[in-house]
Amino acid sequence: MDLKQSINQLNVPQHVAIIMDGNGRWAKQQGEDRIFGHHEGVNSVREIVEACGEIGVKYLTLYAFSTENWNRPKDEVDALMELLVSTISMETPNLNSKGVKLDVIGDIQSLPLSCQKELQESIDITKHNNTVTLILALSYSSKWEIIEAVKKIAAAVKDNKLNISDINSNLISQHLNTNRFPDPELMIRTSGEHRISNFLLWQLAYAEFYFTNVLWPDFRKEEFYKAILSYQNRERRFGQTSEQINQLQ
Ligand code: FPP
Repeated sequence: MDLKQSINQLNVPQHVAIIMDGNGRWAKQQGEDRIFGHHEGVNSVREIVEACGEIGVKYLTLYAFSTENWNRPKDEVDALMELLVSTISMETPNLNSKGVKLDVIGDIQSLPLSCQKELQESIDITKHNNTVTLILALSYSSKWEIIEAVKKIAAAVKDNKLNISDINSNLISQHLNTNRFPDPELMIRTSGEHRISNFLLWQLAYAEFYFTNVLWPDFRKEEFYKAILSYQNRERRFGQTSEQINQLQ
């Protein structure tokens, strides 16, 4: 059955965030090096971006490289950075032709200059697109992002530009890297791990979580549609009761 046909177009999440996990294990299963899995993972990225465009997901955030990933063996880090540069360079025309806008969150200045340059070029080329915004989380960790926000807010208070009483949920959101995007309604993690791994801790406060055993290189359109259908079968209560939610409808 074509799962896409079963998706309710009126209840598609605006923003989906994904922890793409399992590339290393997938490669091992094939008797290959870990980096082979990352290369194959790029094909899943391409399909999922395409699927977002097809069903109307407006924002897709991918956890492509965490702050903690810097601690991996140097060979793997170097290979991942090279893969990022080559993928962005090769995929930008394709992204552009599909109306995809590229954006990034994370400590971008810690990335190699070649990577920063390629990202900036792609961001500039795609900046007027509006079908899907593809947000790459690179050298990103949520605790890092929150610390940076706290520092900016504390400095503004110190300089008398802000009162302590002005600090509220909106103000904190405005100081995060993600301030130009809505919060994700759905977070997907592949490969059977049930962790959030320092990803969008603030922004996922009310998100639905979807975990699957499928490894990232095998996570293609049909698997993505399964996640969307699972989301559509849930009742989002935001702390209210089921009766309250049903009365509002
Ligand atoms: C996690 O699998 C995956 C990563 C740390 C890197 C993700 C990168 C890509 C999919 C390719 C580049 C992406 C873009 C957006 C161009 P893992 O290595 O932790 O797998 P394991 O848990 O099986 O070891």
